[in-house]
Amino acid sequence: MSFLYLLICSALVTFAAADEQTECNPLTSNSTCEADPALGTEHTWWFNTTLDDSLWDMTTGKIDYTDEGADFSIKSENASTLLQSKFYIFFGVMEVHAKMAKGAGIISSVILQSDDLDEIDWEWVGYNTSAVQSDFFGKGNTTTSDRGGFHTVDNADTEFHNYTTYWSQDRLEWWIDGELRRTVNYSEPKTVDGKNYPQTPSRVKVSLWPVGIASQLQGNIEWGGGLVDWSDLPFTMSIQRIRVQDFHSGKEYTYSGTSGSYDSINVVSGNSTAQKEINKAPEKSMSEKWDDLGTGAHAGIGIAIAVVVVGAVAGFVWWCVSQRRKGRLEHALEADQPVTEPTAMNGLKKEWRQSDWARGGYHQRLLKTYD
Ligand SMILES: *[C@@H]1O[C@H](CO)[C@@H](O)[C@H](O)[C@H]1NC(C)=O
Ligand SMILES: *[C@@H]1O[C@H](CO)[C@@H](O)[C@H](O)[C@H]1NC(C)=O
Ligand SMILES: *[C@@H]1O[C@H](CO)[C@@H](O)[C@H](O)[C@H]1NC(C)=O
Ligand SMILES: *[C@@H]1O[C@H](CO)[C@@H](O)[C@H](O)[C@H]1NC(C)=O
Ligand SMILES: *[C@@H]1O[C@H](CO)[C@@H](O)[C@H](O)[C@H]1NC(C)=O
Ligand SMILES: *[C@@H]1O[C@H](CO)[C@@H](O)[C@H](O)[C@H]1NC(C)=O
Ligand SMILES: *[C@@H]1O[C@H](CO)[C@@H](O)[C@H](O)[C@H]1NC(C)=O
Ligand SMILES: *[C@@H]1O[C@H](CO)[C@@H](O)[C@H](O)[C@H]1NC(C)=O
Repeated sequence: MSFLYLLICSALVTFAAADEQTECNPLTSNSTCEADPALGTEHTWWFNTTLDDSLWDMTTGKIDYTDEGADFSIKSENASTLLQSKFYIFFGVMEVHAKMAKGAGIISSVILQSDDLDEIDWEWVGYNTSAVQSDFFGKGNTTTSDRGGFHTVDNADTEFHNYTTYWSQDRLEWWIDGELRRTVNYSEPKTVDGKNYPQTPSRVKVSLWPVGIASQLQGNIEWGGGLVDWSDLPFTMSIQRIRVQDFHSGKEYTYSGTSGSYDSINVVSGNSTAQKEINKAPEKSMSEKWDDLGTGAHAGIGIAIAVVVVGAVAGFVWWCVSQRRKGRLEHALEADQPVTEPTAMNGLKKEWRQSDWARGGYHQRLLKTYD
């Protein structure tokens, strides 16, 4: 009894510790958060090839790679996807070439977000395929809802467009296909004279999620264009490439004090692990590795494979015969169907839009038209 209790407790503690690590807010946590690993350079990731998982974390869902890029899909009711960079930039540029997902209640988004909830957004609301919204938050402050902007863009669901965020100490800019569509200066009323201007090291987050679900606030559902029609599954957003440029070149970023202002951020010098990872020689393909081996090795491996294959086929035939005899083959195949993850949305709520969800969401947002 007490042993079981101890086991459960230690499992809970481990879970809490892991949670703390990924969610560490340097301004409110009493323990020191881990340093943010820097990008420290500039790089373009083409999404038609498997992303380096030491630099990118597919936190929720799975990527489907195509010749064009990566597809992020909601394939079952209430599911969502979230990809996060493991590196941070401290001012810089993010250029994403994307196609939004079409469908009422579905939000496609590519954002920069810091550990203390500074945030710079591109958001596509699925019912309107001729628009993208720009937005920003400082320290997760959602007291007012006057920061969002609407921008027209043609066929956002069927054509890749170039959505670029330029983010410096002085100003924030949103560009679409080489055209400047919006500027926010460091010090203006909307940034609370700089206090709520995004200014701490941020990660790239790419997410597709349903806002049009019954458990959402009515205002959020309206913002998303109504309830999701689940008979339209799947909903898919595509990313062709993302270029990210870090305006600082260093190894990592740390916070000093709890002001969350850019001058409280320390840039630790050195080469970033991201930079080393990007510059390391590309993995050899299987065929290149094969070519590196001599003909003798080829023959030996061929024989070994033949032996293994013959053995495996014999084993499989024996297994099929025995299953069939028991009349269980169909049953076994049925039991192998994939199941959906009911917890995906909970994870999302916690990691994504923490500020919005917690404080009542989008329902009071008054979005302003800029063009
Ligand atoms: C941090 O510590 C102070 C004083 O020790 C305490 O009042 C506060 O609640 C703590 N904050 C958190 C987020 O744990
Ligand atoms: C991905 O796209 C880029 C640009 O079109 C191309 O150079 C590259 O060969 C593609 N890679 C793969 C694996 O298809
Ligand atoms: C949050 O935003 C409101 C409205 O812009 C502002 O008055 C307030 O000072 C901000 N709070 C903090 C803690 O920055
Ligand atoms: C889509 O958004 C654009 C830009 O804000 C707007 O002009 C257009 O009327 C919207 N279309 C629909 C169907 O709401
Ligand atoms: C995308 O737009 C940005 C901002 O205008 C520009 O600097 C960049 O060169 C564009 N990318 C491509 C591939 O045209
Ligand atoms: C931002 O600053 C520039 C000058 O640096 C000025 O021309 C522009 O009007 C400012 N924009 C806003 C919204 O304050
Ligand atoms: C999806 O979420 C809604 C609540 O918003 C719930 O009523 C519904 O049962 C969920 N569906 C599934 C398949 O989990
Ligand atoms: C950083 O990398 C450069 C080469 O890209 C190398 O010359 C330099 O020694 C490295 N510095 C450190 C501190 O490792």
